[in-house]
Amino acid sequence: MISTLPTVPGTDPSSSVFDSFRTSIAQRVSEALPLTLEQAYSGVDYGKKGVDFTIALPRFRLPGKVDEIAAKVISKFEADDWVSSVTLDKSFLHFQLNSKTLVRQVLTQVHALTHLTTSGLPEYGTNTSGKGKTVAIEYSSPNIAKSFHVGHLRSTIIGAFLANLYKACGWDVVRMNYLGDWGTQFGLIATGFEKYGSKEELEKDAIKHLFDVYVKVNKDAEADPKVKAEAALWFKRMEDGDESALKNWRVWREMSIKKYAEEYQRLNVEFDIYNGESMVGKEWQDKALQRLEEMGLISDVDGAKLVDLEKWKLGKAVLRKKDGTSIYLTRDIGGAIERYEKYKFDKMIYVVSSQQDLHLAQLFKMLELMEFPWAKTLQHVNYGLVQGMSTRKGTVVFLDQIIKEAAGVMYEQMQQNEEKFNAIEDPETVSLEIGITGVKIQDMAAKRINNYTFNWDRMLSFEGDTGPYLQYAHVRLASIGRKNPNLLPLPEPSQIDTDTLASMQHARDIVFLLGTYPDVIKVALKTHEPSGIVTFAFRLAHAISSAWETVIVKGEEDLEKARARMFLYECARDVLSASMRLLSIRPLERM
Ligand code: ARG
Repeated sequence: MISTLPTVPGTDPSSSVFDSFRTSIAQRVSEALPLTLEQAYSGVDYGKKGVDFTIALPRFRLPGKVDEIAAKVISKFEADDWVSSVTLDKSFLHFQLNSKTLVRQVLTQVHALTHLTTSGLPEYGTNTSGKGKTVAIEYSSPNIAKSFHVGHLRSTIIGAFLANLYKACGWDVVRMNYLGDWGTQFGLIATGFEKYGSKEELEKDAIKHLFDVYVKVNKDAEADPKVKAEAALWFKRMEDGDESALKNWRVWREMSIKKYAEEYQRLNVEFDIYNGESMVGKEWQDKALQRLEEMGLISDVDGAKLVDLEKWKLGKAVLRKKDGTSIYLTRDIGGAIERYEKYKFDKMIYVVSSQQDLHLAQLFKMLELMEFPWAKTLQHVNYGLVQGMSTRKGTVVFLDQIIKEAAGVMYEQMQQNEEKFNAIEDPETVSLEIGITGVKIQDMAAKRINNYTFNWDRMLSFEGDTGPYLQYAHVRLASIGRKNPNLLPLPEPSQIDTDTLASMQHARDIVFLLGTYPDVIKVALKTHEPSGIVTFAFRLAHAISSAWETVIVKGEEDLEKARARMFLYECARDVLSASMRLLSIRPLERM
Protein backbone atom coordinates (compact mmCIF):
# COMPACT_ATOMS: atom_id res chain seq x y z
CA MET A 1 0.00 0.00 0.00
CA ILE A 2 1.30 3.38 -0.98
CA SER A 3 1.72 5.89 1.84
CA THR A 4 -0.94 8.53 2.25
CA LEU A 5 -0.10 12.19 1.85
CA PRO A 6 -1.25 15.41 3.50
CA THR A 7 -3.59 17.65 1.52
CA VAL A 8 -2.33 20.88 0.02
CA PRO A 9 -5.12 23.40 -0.52
CA GLY A 10 -5.81 24.07 -4.18
CA THR A 11 -4.48 20.74 -5.33
CA ASP A 12 -6.60 17.87 -6.56
CA PRO A 13 -4.86 14.51 -6.78
CA SER A 14 -8.08 12.92 -7.98
CA SER A 15 -7.77 14.77 -11.26
CA SER A 16 -4.00 15.17 -11.43
CA VAL A 17 -1.84 12.56 -9.78
CA PHE A 18 1.19 14.81 -10.22
CA ASP A 19 -0.28 16.87 -7.40
CA SER A 20 0.44 13.86 -5.18
CA PHE A 21 4.03 13.57 -6.29
CA ARG A 22 4.57 17.29 -5.75
CA THR A 23 2.97 17.02 -2.34
CA SER A 24 5.30 14.22 -1.40
CA ILE A 25 8.32 16.31 -2.43
CA ALA A 26 6.95 19.33 -0.59
CA GLN A 27 6.37 17.27 2.51
CA ARG A 28 10.02 16.25 2.71
CA VAL A 29 11.18 19.80 2.12
CA SER A 30 8.85 21.34 4.67
CA GLU A 31 9.94 18.77 7.27
CA ALA A 32 13.60 19.59 6.71
CA LEU A 33 13.34 23.36 6.37
CA PRO A 34 11.40 26.12 8.15
CA LEU A 35 8.70 26.21 5.50
CA THR A 36 5.04 25.37 5.54
CA LEU A 37 3.81 22.58 3.30
CA GLU A 38 2.20 25.13 1.01
CA GLN A 39 5.32 27.25 0.76
CA ALA A 40 7.36 24.23 -0.13
CA TYR A 41 4.74 23.05 -2.60
CA SER A 42 4.79 26.34 -4.47
CA GLY A 43 8.50 25.82 -5.11
CA VAL A 44 8.16 22.47 -6.84
CA ASP A 45 8.64 22.99 -10.58
CA TYR A 46 9.13 20.70 -13.52
CA GLY A 47 12.77 19.84 -14.04
CA LYS A 48 14.77 20.28 -17.20
CA LYS A 49 15.73 17.40 -19.47
CA GLY A 50 15.83 14.12 -17.63
CA VAL A 51 14.84 15.59 -14.28
CA ASP A 52 11.32 15.01 -13.03
CA PHE A 53 10.91 17.87 -10.55
CA THR A 54 13.18 20.64 -9.34
CA ILE A 55 13.23 23.14 -6.52
CA ALA A 56 15.27 26.32 -6.89
CA LEU A 57 16.35 26.81 -3.30
CA PRO A 58 17.11 30.56 -3.42
CA ARG A 59 13.42 31.25 -4.06
CA PHE A 60 12.64 30.51 -0.41
CA ARG A 61 15.00 33.28 0.79
CA LEU A 62 16.07 31.23 3.77
CA PRO A 63 19.02 32.36 5.89
CA GLY A 64 22.27 30.42 5.44
CA LYS A 65 24.21 28.94 2.57
CA VAL A 66 22.47 27.02 -0.18
CA ASP A 67 24.69 23.99 0.38
CA GLU A 68 23.78 23.83 4.04
CA ILE A 69 20.10 24.24 3.33
CA ALA A 70 20.28 21.52 0.72
CA ALA A 71 22.17 19.23 3.06
CA LYS A 72 19.28 19.37 5.53
CA VAL A 73 16.89 18.07 2.92
CA ILE A 74 19.28 15.50 1.54
CA SER A 75 20.35 14.05 4.89
CA LYS A 76 16.76 13.48 5.91
CA PHE A 77 15.77 12.01 2.57
CA GLU A 78 14.52 8.46 2.39
CA ALA A 79 13.33 6.94 -0.83
CA ASP A 80 9.76 5.68 -0.78
CA ASP A 81 6.93 4.80 -3.11
CA TRP A 82 6.58 8.38 -4.30
CA VAL A 83 10.06 9.75 -4.68
CA SER A 84 13.19 7.74 -5.34
CA SER A 85 16.03 10.23 -5.16
CA VAL A 86 17.20 13.76 -4.57
CA THR A 87 20.39 15.39 -5.82
CA LEU A 88 21.88 18.83 -5.52
CA ASP A 89 22.88 20.66 -8.68
CA LYS A 90 24.22 24.17 -8.00
CA SER A 91 21.33 25.73 -6.11
CA PHE A 92 18.74 23.30 -7.39
CA LEU A 93 17.39 20.20 -5.76
CA HIS A 94 16.43 17.62 -8.35
CA PHE A 95 13.90 14.93 -7.50
CA GLN A 96 13.23 11.71 -9.38
CA LEU A 97 9.88 10.01 -8.98
CA ASN A 98 9.51 6.36 -8.17
CA SER A 99 9.08 4.93 -11.65
CA LYS A 100 6.80 2.08 -10.71
CA THR A 101 4.42 4.31 -8.83
CA LEU A 102 4.60 6.91 -11.57
CA VAL A 103 3.61 4.45 -14.26
CA ARG A 104 0.91 2.77 -12.24
CA GLN A 105 -0.67 5.94 -10.88
CA VAL A 106 -0.67 7.91 -14.12
CA LEU A 107 -1.98 5.14 -16.34
CA THR A 108 -4.62 4.15 -13.82
CA GLN A 109 -5.79 7.74 -13.60
CA VAL A 110 -5.88 8.26 -17.36
CA HIS A 111 -7.82 5.03 -17.71
CA ALA A 112 -10.26 5.88 -14.94
CA LEU A 113 -11.01 9.26 -16.49
CA THR A 114 -11.46 8.36 -20.16
CA HIS A 115 -15.24 8.81 -20.19
CA LEU A 116 -16.48 11.94 -21.90
CA THR A 117 -17.71 14.84 -19.82
CA THR A 118 -20.31 17.43 -20.82
CA SER A 119 -17.48 19.39 -22.41
CA GLY A 120 -17.27 16.67 -25.04
CA LEU A 121 -13.74 15.89 -23.87
CA PRO A 122 -12.56 12.98 -21.77
CA GLU A 123 -12.33 13.87 -18.12
CA TYR A 124 -8.60 13.30 -17.84
CA GLY A 125 -6.85 16.67 -18.00
CA THR A 126 -9.96 18.68 -17.18
CA ASN A 127 -10.60 20.45 -13.89
CA THR A 128 -13.48 22.16 -12.15
CA SER A 129 -11.88 25.52 -11.38
CA GLY A 130 -14.58 27.38 -13.31
CA LYS A 131 -17.51 25.60 -11.73
CA GLY A 132 -20.55 27.86 -11.44
CA LYS A 133 -18.99 30.60 -13.52
CA THR A 134 -20.00 31.81 -16.94
CA VAL A 135 -17.74 33.09 -19.66
CA ALA A 136 -18.96 34.68 -22.87
CA ILE A 137 -16.54 34.21 -25.73
CA GLU A 138 -16.95 36.09 -28.96
CA TYR A 139 -15.09 34.80 -31.99
CA SER A 140 -15.05 34.54 -35.78
CA SER A 141 -17.40 37.53 -36.27
CA PRO A 142 -17.10 37.94 -40.04
CA ASN A 143 -18.71 40.76 -41.94
CA ILE A 144 -21.58 39.90 -44.19
CA ALA A 145 -20.97 40.90 -47.82
CA LYS A 146 -17.30 41.50 -47.18
CA SER A 147 -14.45 39.06 -47.47
CA PHE A 148 -13.63 36.49 -44.83
CA HIS A 149 -9.99 37.19 -44.28
CA VAL A 150 -7.30 35.34 -42.38
CA GLY A 151 -7.99 37.52 -39.37
CA HIS A 152 -11.44 35.99 -39.18
CA LEU A 153 -9.99 32.53 -39.68
CA ARG A 154 -7.61 33.01 -36.78
CA SER A 155 -10.38 34.32 -34.58
CA THR A 156 -12.47 31.27 -35.49
CA ILE A 157 -9.70 28.79 -34.72
CA ILE A 158 -8.42 30.40 -31.54
CA GLY A 159 -11.93 31.15 -30.31
CA ALA A 160 -13.09 27.57 -30.80
CA PHE A 161 -10.08 26.41 -28.83
CA LEU A 162 -10.78 28.85 -25.99
CA ALA A 163 -14.39 27.76 -25.81
CA ASN A 164 -13.26 24.14 -25.45
CA LEU A 165 -10.60 25.11 -22.94
CA TYR A 166 -12.99 26.98 -20.66
CA LYS A 167 -15.43 24.09 -20.82
CA ALA A 168 -12.59 21.75 -19.92
CA CYS A 169 -12.04 23.89 -16.83
CA GLY A 170 -15.64 23.65 -15.74
CA TRP A 171 -16.94 27.01 -16.96
CA ASP A 172 -20.32 27.54 -18.56
CA VAL A 173 -19.45 28.92 -21.95
CA VAL A 174 -21.58 31.12 -24.19
CA ARG A 175 -20.12 30.94 -27.67
CA MET A 176 -20.99 34.00 -29.68
CA ASN A 177 -20.55 35.00 -33.28
CA TYR A 178 -20.93 38.77 -33.58
CA LEU A 179 -21.62 39.31 -37.23
CA GLY A 180 -20.74 42.51 -39.02
CA ASP A 181 -24.27 42.74 -40.33
CA TRP A 182 -24.89 46.44 -39.94
CA GLY A 183 -23.44 49.72 -41.08
CA THR A 184 -23.36 52.01 -44.06
CA GLN A 185 -22.16 49.24 -46.34
CA PHE A 186 -25.60 47.66 -46.15
CA GLY A 187 -27.10 50.84 -47.53
CA LEU A 188 -24.59 50.49 -50.31
CA ILE A 189 -25.42 46.88 -51.01
CA ALA A 190 -29.12 47.65 -50.97
CA THR A 191 -28.53 50.33 -53.55
CA GLY A 192 -26.34 48.01 -55.57
CA PHE A 193 -28.70 45.07 -55.29
CA GLU A 194 -31.35 46.88 -57.31
CA LYS A 195 -28.85 47.07 -60.16
CA TYR A 196 -26.67 43.97 -59.81
CA GLY A 197 -28.58 41.62 -57.56
CA SER A 198 -29.92 38.24 -58.61
CA LYS A 199 -32.16 36.02 -56.57
CA GLU A 200 -30.74 32.91 -58.16
CA GLU A 201 -27.16 33.80 -57.47
CA LEU A 202 -28.11 34.68 -53.96
CA GLU A 203 -29.62 31.29 -53.41
CA LYS A 204 -26.62 29.53 -54.90
CA ASP A 205 -24.07 31.21 -52.70
CA ALA A 206 -25.27 34.18 -50.69
CA ILE A 207 -21.86 35.05 -49.31
CA LYS A 208 -20.23 35.19 -52.71
CA HIS A 209 -23.06 37.01 -54.44
CA LEU A 210 -23.38 39.73 -51.83
CA PHE A 211 -19.67 40.24 -51.98
CA ASP A 212 -19.81 40.60 -55.78
CA VAL A 213 -22.59 43.15 -55.52
CA TYR A 214 -20.67 45.01 -52.86
CA VAL A 215 -17.52 45.18 -54.99
CA LYS A 216 -19.45 46.49 -57.98
CA VAL A 217 -21.46 49.11 -56.16
CA ASN A 218 -18.39 50.20 -54.26
CA LYS A 219 -16.77 51.03 -57.58
CA ASP A 220 -19.84 52.99 -58.60
CA ALA A 221 -19.77 54.90 -55.34
CA GLU A 222 -16.16 55.85 -55.84
CA ALA A 223 -16.96 57.28 -59.24
CA ASP A 224 -20.24 58.88 -58.32
CA PRO A 225 -20.88 60.60 -54.96
CA LYS A 226 -24.61 60.34 -55.60
CA VAL A 227 -24.42 56.59 -55.07
CA LYS A 228 -22.81 57.12 -51.70
CA ALA A 229 -25.45 59.62 -50.68
CA GLU A 230 -28.19 57.28 -51.75
CA ALA A 231 -26.59 54.48 -49.73
CA ALA A 232 -26.36 56.67 -46.64
CA LEU A 233 -30.02 57.53 -46.96
CA TRP A 234 -30.88 53.88 -47.28
CA PHE A 235 -28.92 52.96 -44.20
CA LYS A 236 -30.60 55.77 -42.30
CA ARG A 237 -33.96 54.24 -43.19
CA MET A 238 -32.69 50.90 -41.92
CA GLU A 239 -31.59 52.42 -38.64
CA ASP A 240 -34.97 54.08 -38.30
CA GLY A 241 -36.56 50.65 -38.62
CA ASP A 242 -38.21 51.20 -41.98
CA GLU A 243 -39.42 47.69 -42.77
CA SER A 244 -39.34 48.19 -46.53
CA ALA A 245 -35.66 49.03 -46.31
CA LEU A 246 -34.97 46.05 -44.08
CA LYS A 247 -36.73 43.32 -45.98
CA ASN A 248 -33.93 42.27 -48.31
CA TRP A 249 -31.30 42.72 -45.66
CA ARG A 250 -33.03 40.18 -43.48
CA VAL A 251 -32.88 37.59 -46.23
CA TRP A 252 -29.22 38.31 -46.89
CA ARG A 253 -28.36 37.93 -43.26
CA GLU A 254 -30.20 34.68 -42.85
CA MET A 255 -28.76 33.11 -45.97
CA SER A 256 -25.25 34.17 -45.09
CA ILE A 257 -25.57 32.64 -41.65
CA LYS A 258 -26.83 29.42 -43.16
CA LYS A 259 -23.80 29.19 -45.41
CA TYR A 260 -21.42 30.08 -42.62
CA ALA A 261 -22.96 27.49 -40.33
CA GLU A 262 -22.20 24.79 -42.89
CA GLU A 263 -18.59 25.83 -43.10
CA TYR A 264 -18.17 26.06 -39.35
CA GLN A 265 -19.48 22.55 -39.11
CA ARG A 266 -16.81 21.41 -41.50
CA LEU A 267 -14.27 23.12 -39.30
CA ASN A 268 -15.69 21.50 -36.15
CA VAL A 269 -16.48 24.94 -34.76
CA GLU A 270 -19.72 25.71 -32.97
CA PHE A 271 -21.67 28.67 -31.71
CA ASP A 272 -24.50 28.99 -29.25
CA ILE A 273 -25.67 32.23 -30.78
CA TYR A 274 -25.29 34.26 -33.88
CA ASN A 275 -25.87 37.82 -32.90
CA GLY A 276 -24.53 40.81 -34.70
CA GLU A 277 -24.10 44.51 -34.79
CA SER A 278 -27.64 44.87 -36.16
CA MET A 279 -29.11 43.43 -32.99
CA VAL A 280 -27.68 45.99 -30.63
CA GLY A 281 -30.53 48.17 -29.39
CA LYS A 282 -30.57 51.95 -29.49
CA GLU A 283 -31.31 52.39 -25.81
CA TRP A 284 -27.88 51.67 -24.40
CA GLN A 285 -26.08 53.39 -27.22
CA ASP A 286 -27.98 56.58 -26.37
CA LYS A 287 -27.51 56.19 -22.63
CA ALA A 288 -23.80 55.59 -23.06
CA LEU A 289 -23.42 58.75 -25.06
CA GLN A 290 -25.38 60.63 -22.45
CA ARG A 291 -23.28 59.36 -19.58
CA LEU A 292 -20.03 60.17 -21.30
CA GLU A 293 -21.43 63.61 -22.12
CA GLU A 294 -22.18 64.21 -18.45
CA MET A 295 -18.61 63.30 -17.70
CA GLY A 296 -17.45 66.00 -20.08
CA LEU A 297 -15.80 63.56 -22.43
CA ILE A 298 -17.89 64.27 -25.53
CA SER A 299 -17.40 67.07 -28.00
CA ASP A 300 -19.53 68.03 -30.94
CA VAL A 301 -17.73 68.36 -34.25
CA ASP A 302 -20.02 69.47 -37.06
CA GLY A 303 -22.88 67.57 -35.51
CA ALA A 304 -20.88 64.38 -35.01
CA LYS A 305 -20.17 63.19 -31.47
CA LEU A 306 -16.60 62.58 -30.48
CA VAL A 307 -15.29 61.02 -27.29
CA ASP A 308 -11.96 62.25 -25.98
CA LEU A 309 -9.83 59.56 -24.36
CA GLU A 310 -6.52 61.39 -24.72
CA LYS A 311 -6.15 61.42 -20.98
CA TRP A 312 -5.69 57.65 -21.12
CA LYS A 313 -3.58 57.82 -24.29
CA LEU A 314 -6.40 56.24 -26.24
CA GLY A 315 -7.05 59.06 -28.69
CA LYS A 316 -10.37 60.33 -29.87
CA ALA A 317 -13.14 58.34 -31.43
CA VAL A 318 -16.41 59.07 -33.17
CA LEU A 319 -19.44 57.68 -31.38
CA ARG A 320 -22.19 59.04 -33.55
CA LYS A 321 -22.27 60.34 -37.07
CA LYS A 322 -23.67 63.62 -38.19
CA ASP A 323 -26.83 62.03 -39.57
CA GLY A 324 -27.40 60.38 -36.22
CA THR A 325 -26.51 56.86 -37.35
CA SER A 326 -24.48 54.70 -35.03
CA ILE A 327 -21.05 53.30 -35.66
CA TYR A 328 -19.02 50.20 -34.87
CA LEU A 329 -17.65 51.42 -31.54
CA THR A 330 -20.99 52.64 -30.21
CA ARG A 331 -22.63 49.37 -31.14
CA ASP A 332 -19.92 47.56 -29.24
CA ILE A 333 -20.70 49.59 -26.12
CA GLY A 334 -24.40 48.81 -26.34
CA GLY A 335 -23.64 45.23 -27.25
CA ALA A 336 -21.43 44.62 -24.21
CA ILE A 337 -24.03 46.03 -21.83
CA GLU A 338 -26.80 43.94 -23.36
CA ARG A 339 -24.66 40.83 -23.14
CA TYR A 340 -24.09 41.43 -19.49
CA GLU A 341 -27.80 41.96 -18.88
CA LYS A 342 -28.53 38.73 -20.66
CA TYR A 343 -25.80 36.38 -19.47
CA LYS A 344 -24.51 37.96 -16.27
CA PHE A 345 -21.12 36.63 -17.28
CA ASP A 346 -18.21 36.43 -14.86
CA LYS A 347 -15.90 37.14 -17.74
CA MET A 348 -16.15 38.07 -21.38
CA ILE A 349 -13.51 37.45 -24.01
CA TYR A 350 -13.20 39.10 -27.42
CA VAL A 351 -11.06 37.12 -29.84
CA VAL A 352 -10.10 39.84 -32.29
CA SER A 353 -6.99 40.68 -34.31
CA SER A 354 -4.33 42.92 -32.78
CA GLN A 355 -5.21 45.44 -35.48
CA GLN A 356 -8.17 46.30 -33.28
CA ASP A 357 -6.16 46.71 -30.07
CA LEU A 358 -7.01 50.40 -29.90
CA HIS A 359 -10.68 49.83 -30.66
CA LEU A 360 -11.05 47.34 -27.84
CA ALA A 361 -8.97 49.39 -25.42
CA GLN A 362 -11.29 52.35 -26.11
CA LEU A 363 -14.33 50.16 -25.63
CA PHE A 364 -13.11 48.73 -22.32
CA LYS A 365 -12.06 52.16 -21.06
CA MET A 366 -15.44 53.71 -21.78
CA LEU A 367 -17.29 50.90 -20.06
CA GLU A 368 -14.99 51.29 -17.10
CA LEU A 369 -15.59 55.04 -17.02
CA MET A 370 -19.30 54.37 -17.01
CA GLU A 371 -18.60 52.41 -13.85
CA PHE A 372 -19.94 49.06 -14.88
CA PRO A 373 -18.45 46.76 -12.28
CA TRP A 374 -18.09 43.96 -14.83
CA ALA A 375 -16.01 46.13 -17.15
CA LYS A 376 -12.85 44.84 -15.54
CA THR A 377 -13.75 41.29 -16.48
CA LEU A 378 -13.53 42.04 -20.20
CA GLN A 379 -10.54 40.61 -21.97
CA HIS A 380 -9.19 41.05 -25.44
CA VAL A 381 -7.44 37.92 -26.72
CA ASN A 382 -5.56 39.23 -29.72
CA TYR A 383 -3.37 37.71 -32.39
CA GLY A 384 -0.94 38.76 -35.12
CA LEU A 385 -1.25 39.04 -38.85
CA VAL A 386 -0.95 36.35 -41.46
CA GLN A 387 0.72 37.03 -44.74
CA GLY A 388 0.27 35.45 -48.08
CA MET A 389 -2.85 33.40 -47.82
CA SER A 390 -3.85 32.71 -51.38
CA THR A 391 -5.02 29.72 -53.35
CA ARG A 392 -3.73 28.54 -56.70
CA LYS A 393 -6.49 30.58 -58.25
CA GLY A 394 -5.53 33.76 -56.47
CA THR A 395 -6.35 35.70 -53.36
CA VAL A 396 -8.62 34.15 -50.82
CA VAL A 397 -11.85 35.94 -50.18
CA PHE A 398 -14.10 33.32 -48.66
CA LEU A 399 -13.89 30.71 -45.98
CA ASP A 400 -15.02 27.93 -48.29
CA GLN A 401 -12.07 28.67 -50.57
CA ILE A 402 -9.67 28.06 -47.71
CA ILE A 403 -11.35 24.81 -46.78
CA LYS A 404 -11.47 23.59 -50.39
CA GLU A 405 -7.88 24.50 -51.02
CA ALA A 406 -6.68 22.77 -47.87
CA ALA A 407 -8.56 19.62 -48.86
CA GLY A 408 -7.40 19.85 -52.47
CA VAL A 409 -3.74 20.33 -51.69
CA MET A 410 -3.88 17.49 -49.20
CA TYR A 411 -5.62 15.21 -51.65
CA GLU A 412 -2.83 15.72 -54.18
CA GLN A 413 -0.23 15.17 -51.52
CA MET A 414 -1.81 11.87 -50.59
CA GLN A 415 -2.09 10.72 -54.19
CA GLN A 416 1.66 10.81 -54.48
CA ASN A 417 1.88 7.62 -52.50
CA GLU A 418 -0.24 5.44 -54.73
CA GLU A 419 -0.19 2.33 -52.61
CA LYS A 420 -1.25 4.11 -49.46
CA PHE A 421 -3.76 6.22 -51.32
CA ASN A 422 -5.54 3.21 -52.73
CA ALA A 423 -5.89 1.77 -49.27
CA ILE A 424 -7.84 4.78 -48.02
CA GLU A 425 -11.52 4.13 -47.89
CA ASP A 426 -12.78 7.65 -48.24
CA PRO A 427 -9.97 9.89 -49.48
CA GLU A 428 -12.23 12.95 -49.82
CA THR A 429 -13.17 12.99 -46.17
CA VAL A 430 -9.70 12.10 -45.01
CA SER A 431 -8.00 14.79 -47.09
CA LEU A 432 -10.52 17.37 -45.92
CA GLU A 433 -9.93 16.47 -42.28
CA ILE A 434 -6.15 16.42 -42.58
CA GLY A 435 -6.14 19.62 -44.61
CA ILE A 436 -8.14 21.41 -41.94
CA THR A 437 -5.86 19.99 -39.27
CA GLY A 438 -2.88 21.39 -41.17
CA VAL A 439 -4.38 24.85 -41.28
CA LYS A 440 -5.29 24.78 -37.60
CA ILE A 441 -1.96 23.48 -36.38
CA GLN A 442 -0.03 26.04 -38.38
CA ASP A 443 -2.23 28.71 -36.89
CA MET A 444 -1.90 27.60 -33.28
CA ALA A 445 1.69 26.40 -33.25
CA ALA A 446 3.28 29.69 -32.19
CA LYS A 447 2.37 32.43 -29.74
CA ARG A 448 -0.81 34.15 -30.83
CA ILE A 449 0.76 37.54 -31.21
CA ASN A 450 3.34 36.33 -33.75
CA ASN A 451 2.75 37.05 -37.40
CA TYR A 452 3.25 34.15 -39.78
CA THR A 453 3.25 33.43 -43.47
CA PHE A 454 0.65 31.08 -44.79
CA ASN A 455 2.41 28.16 -46.45
CA TRP A 456 0.42 25.27 -47.88
CA ASP A 457 3.45 23.07 -48.50
CA ARG A 458 4.79 23.38 -45.03
CA MET A 459 1.51 22.99 -43.19
CA LEU A 460 0.38 20.02 -45.25
CA SER A 461 3.58 18.03 -45.18
CA PHE A 462 3.78 14.79 -43.22
CA GLU A 463 7.21 15.75 -41.98
CA GLY A 464 7.97 18.13 -39.17
CA ASP A 465 5.52 19.35 -36.57
CA THR A 466 2.51 19.63 -38.82
CA GLY A 467 -1.17 18.79 -38.66
CA PRO A 468 -0.81 15.75 -40.94
CA TYR A 469 2.00 14.42 -38.75
CA LEU A 470 -0.20 14.70 -35.69
CA GLN A 471 -3.08 12.90 -37.38
CA TYR A 472 -0.65 10.24 -38.52
CA ALA A 473 0.61 9.76 -34.97
CA HIS A 474 -2.95 9.28 -33.79
CA VAL A 475 -3.84 6.87 -36.57
CA ARG A 476 -0.79 4.79 -35.78
CA LEU A 477 -1.84 4.51 -32.15
CA ALA A 478 -5.37 3.68 -33.17
CA SER A 479 -4.08 0.85 -35.35
CA ILE A 480 -2.34 -1.01 -32.52
CA GLY A 481 -5.62 -2.34 -31.26
CA ARG A 482 -6.64 -3.46 -34.72
CA LYS A 483 -3.32 -5.20 -35.20
CA ASN A 484 -3.37 -7.01 -31.87
CA PRO A 485 -6.97 -8.15 -31.38
CA ASN A 486 -5.76 -11.06 -29.26
CA LEU A 487 -4.89 -8.65 -26.46
CA LEU A 488 -8.28 -7.00 -26.38
CA PRO A 489 -10.23 -6.23 -24.35
CA LEU A 490 -7.61 -5.46 -21.77
CA PRO A 491 -8.22 -6.60 -18.21
CA GLU A 492 -8.80 -4.05 -15.44
CA PRO A 493 -5.70 -1.92 -14.74
CA SER A 494 -5.20 -3.68 -11.42
CA GLN A 495 -4.72 -6.90 -13.36
CA ILE A 496 -2.06 -5.43 -15.62
CA ASP A 497 1.57 -5.64 -14.59
CA THR A 498 2.64 -2.06 -15.30
CA ASP A 499 5.93 -2.58 -13.44
CA THR A 500 7.36 -4.01 -16.62
CA LEU A 501 7.07 -0.55 -18.17
CA ALA A 502 8.85 1.28 -15.39
CA SER A 503 12.29 0.16 -16.42
CA MET A 504 11.84 1.10 -20.07
CA GLN A 505 12.98 4.68 -20.49
CA HIS A 506 10.84 5.33 -23.57
CA ALA A 507 7.75 4.04 -21.82
CA ARG A 508 8.48 6.10 -18.75
CA ASP A 509 8.92 9.22 -20.91
CA ILE A 510 5.49 8.77 -22.39
CA VAL A 511 3.95 8.24 -18.98
CA PHE A 512 5.60 11.32 -17.59
CA LEU A 513 4.18 13.44 -20.40
CA LEU A 514 0.72 12.00 -19.83
CA GLY A 515 1.04 13.02 -16.20
CA THR A 516 1.73 16.63 -17.16
CA TYR A 517 -1.45 17.02 -19.20
CA PRO A 518 -3.68 18.43 -16.42
CA ASP A 519 -1.01 21.07 -15.77
CA VAL A 520 -0.70 21.86 -19.47
CA ILE A 521 -4.41 22.70 -19.51
CA LYS A 522 -4.14 24.88 -16.42
CA VAL A 523 -1.30 26.87 -17.94
CA ALA A 524 -3.24 27.33 -21.19
CA LEU A 525 -6.15 28.75 -19.24
CA LYS A 526 -3.87 31.38 -17.78
CA THR A 527 -2.08 32.32 -20.99
CA HIS A 528 -4.91 31.78 -23.46
CA GLU A 529 -2.23 30.31 -25.71
CA PRO A 530 -3.17 27.29 -27.81
CA SER A 531 0.55 26.82 -28.57
CA GLY A 532 1.08 25.17 -25.17
CA ILE A 533 -1.37 22.42 -26.10
CA VAL A 534 0.12 22.09 -29.58
CA THR A 535 3.60 21.72 -28.08
CA PHE A 536 2.31 19.10 -25.69
CA ALA A 537 0.69 17.12 -28.50
CA PHE A 538 3.91 17.10 -30.51
CA ARG A 539 6.07 16.16 -27.56
CA LEU A 540 3.77 13.27 -26.89
CA ALA A 541 3.75 12.25 -30.55
CA HIS A 542 7.55 12.34 -30.61
CA ALA A 543 7.85 10.35 -27.39
CA ILE A 544 5.54 7.72 -28.83
CA SER A 545 7.43 7.58 -32.08
CA SER A 546 10.70 7.09 -30.18
CA ALA A 547 9.14 4.22 -28.29
CA TRP A 548 7.94 2.20 -31.30
CA GLU A 549 11.21 0.34 -31.80
CA THR A 550 11.77 -0.80 -28.26
CA VAL A 551 8.39 -0.81 -26.61
CA ILE A 552 6.91 -3.30 -29.04
CA VAL A 553 3.54 -4.97 -28.74
CA LYS A 554 3.39 -7.19 -31.79
CA GLY A 555 6.16 -9.77 -31.52
CA GLU A 556 6.43 -9.52 -27.75
CA GLU A 557 5.99 -13.08 -26.60
CA ASP A 558 5.54 -12.36 -22.92
CA LEU A 559 1.79 -11.77 -22.73
CA GLU A 560 2.07 -9.77 -19.50
CA LYS A 561 4.51 -7.37 -21.11
CA ALA A 562 2.55 -7.08 -24.32
CA ARG A 563 -0.57 -6.25 -22.35
CA ALA A 564 1.11 -3.57 -20.29
CA ARG A 565 2.46 -1.94 -23.43
CA MET A 566 -0.90 -2.08 -25.08
CA PHE A 567 -2.32 -0.39 -22.02
CA LEU A 568 0.33 2.32 -22.28
CA TYR A 569 -0.43 2.99 -25.94
CA GLU A 570 -4.17 3.04 -25.30
CA CYS A 571 -3.68 5.65 -22.61
CA ALA A 572 -1.35 7.63 -24.85
CA ARG A 573 -3.88 7.55 -27.60
CA ASP A 574 -6.66 8.75 -25.30
CA VAL A 575 -4.63 11.71 -24.16
CA LEU A 576 -3.32 12.59 -27.62
CA SER A 577 -6.85 12.47 -28.93
CA ALA A 578 -8.07 14.61 -26.03
CA SER A 579 -5.45 17.26 -26.70
CA MET A 580 -6.34 17.31 -30.40
CA ARG A 581 -10.01 17.66 -29.64
CA LEU A 582 -9.27 20.47 -27.25
CA LEU A 583 -7.70 22.19 -30.25
CA SER A 584 -10.97 21.54 -32.17
CA ILE A 585 -9.32 18.87 -34.31
CA ARG A 586 -11.14 15.63 -35.10
CA PRO A 587 -8.65 12.80 -34.63
CA LEU A 588 -8.76 10.26 -37.45
CA GLU A 589 -8.94 6.51 -36.86
CA ARG A 590 -7.51 5.55 -40.22
CA MET A 591 -5.81 7.20 -43.11
N1 ARG B 1 -16.70 42.16 -37.62
C1 ARG B 1 -15.47 42.75 -37.15
C2 ARG B 1 -14.43 42.79 -38.25
O1 ARG B 1 -14.48 41.99 -39.13
C3 ARG B 1 -14.90 42.03 -35.99
C4 ARG B 1 -15.74 42.11 -34.77
C5 ARG B 1 -14.95 42.03 -33.53
N2 ARG B 1 -15.77 42.08 -32.35
C6 ARG B 1 -16.23 43.17 -31.78
N3 ARG B 1 -17.02 43.03 -30.75
N4 ARG B 1 -15.92 44.36 -32.22
O2 ARG B 1 -13.53 43.58 -38.21
